[in-house]
Amino acid sequence: MSAEFIITGQVLSFAHSPFEGVPEDAAHLNEAVLIRDGCVAAVGTADDLRRQAPNAEVQAQGNALITAGFVDAHAHYPQTGIIASWGKRLIDWLNTYTFPEEMQFRDLDYAKEVASRYFDLTLQNGTTTTVSYCTIHPESVDAYFAEASTRRLRALGGKTCMDRNAPEGLRDTAQSAYDDSKRLLQKWNDQGRLSYVITPRFSPTSTPEQLEALGRLWAEHPECLMQTHLSEQVDEIEWVKSLFPQARDYLDTYEVYGLLGERGLYGHAIHLETREIDRLREVGASLIHCPTSNTFIGSGLFNMAQRKAEGFAVGLATDTGGGSSFSVLRSMAAAYEIGQLTGTALHPAQLYWLATAGSAQALHLADKIGNIQVGMEADLIALDLSSTPAIAQRSARAEDIWEAVFPTIMMGDDRAIKQVWISGRAL
Ligand code: GUN
Ligand code: ZN
Repeated sequence: MSAEFIITGQVLSFAHSPFEGVPEDAAHLNEAVLIRDGCVAAVGTADDLRRQAPNAEVQAQGNALITAGFVDAHAHYPQTGIIASWGKRLIDWLNTYTFPEEMQFRDLDYAKEVASRYFDLTLQNGTTTTVSYCTIHPESVDAYFAEASTRRLRALGGKTCMDRNAPEGLRDTAQSAYDDSKRLLQKWNDQGRLSYVITPRFSPTSTPEQLEALGRLWAEHPECLMQTHLSEQVDEIEWVKSLFPQARDYLDTYEVYGLLGERGLYGHAIHLETREIDRLREVGASLIHCPTSNTFIGSGLFNMAQRKAEGFAVGLATDTGGGSSFSVLRSMAAAYEIGQLTGTALHPAQLYWLATAGSAQALHLADKIGNIQVGMEADLIALDLSSTPAIAQRSARAEDIWEAVFPTIMMGDDRAIKQVWISGRAL
């Protein structure tokens, strides 16, 4: 493949967030996009781009929707093998399924095998950037980043730190969490397209000493993102209150140890108190919505419309394997369903934006990924809007682009992903 090529189809770009103003007005369609040296060089009519780049190969994608690849802002790649495990809620689900599986990642070969399978699955589903928790084992971080690097992916992740309330063999210490995280950060952060994310799992599995140590590491590396879980399930919040009796609320267990900040990613954040909302908003933190996980584990209903109206940056995520699918299309559908249950029908443009530009914004990467704009990295997908008979017969009746896209959002899966480009190379 040449370093310069043109993709034709229905090229979707967002000029701004569809949560501001009329949703449809935020998006534009063009005929073609010119890719040069792995980045978007121009967007326009096919004729214009052919004139601009007469030697460029043309990759015609028919009527397919050409968009940025999906950005999955919260996942646990080590839980690939236990996705769709039946019958538990958060704490029992962690103890029964998650912790025994995560134990196996002390073995580098096992970690490599799962990382490879994980990226096969995410790419088949059109996800071009992932933000993953690894396990407590440095080997799990090495396997994740090495695999992402081989595939030239923009990927983010970090060692999950836990020094209590986890089984023997799945606990580090405050000091080793600090030391291992720091070493892995120095090894992987900013290597090509990789970013290290400081990762305390959640306050029930960290002592105050460990939270303090990771807060210190974040203060030493403010360029890094920090990810954790917050207020996912009501029982969990009660547990946090009993473990940290002096804390004002769940968020306070992070705040007092330096783990509240603008570059913080707070997964779930469903059952927030007013003080927590105010503080998260004041610092400009990102909330990460994991809708298939919230329904699967029975956690509750995230109020997207309200959080967006309050001005939050919100990312969309699968939360594999608490989430029940690798497909961000399925996450969009679940976000729509949860929106209905909380009283707001999210517009398809809003759902699509959340899965791409919105997640990128939450990760502070909106200048690089999540949209088709000149200068951005060419991590793109071609989405077939008629990928199954059920979808095709509905989209055939569509009177505008969003009516044509919505059946794929609600019923689409990996069969809708016709082509994926990573850094301007077709897979
Ligand atoms: N809270 C702490 N750890 C986890 C996890 O692995 N998955 C989910 N959904 N919630 C968590
Ligand atoms: Zn999670």
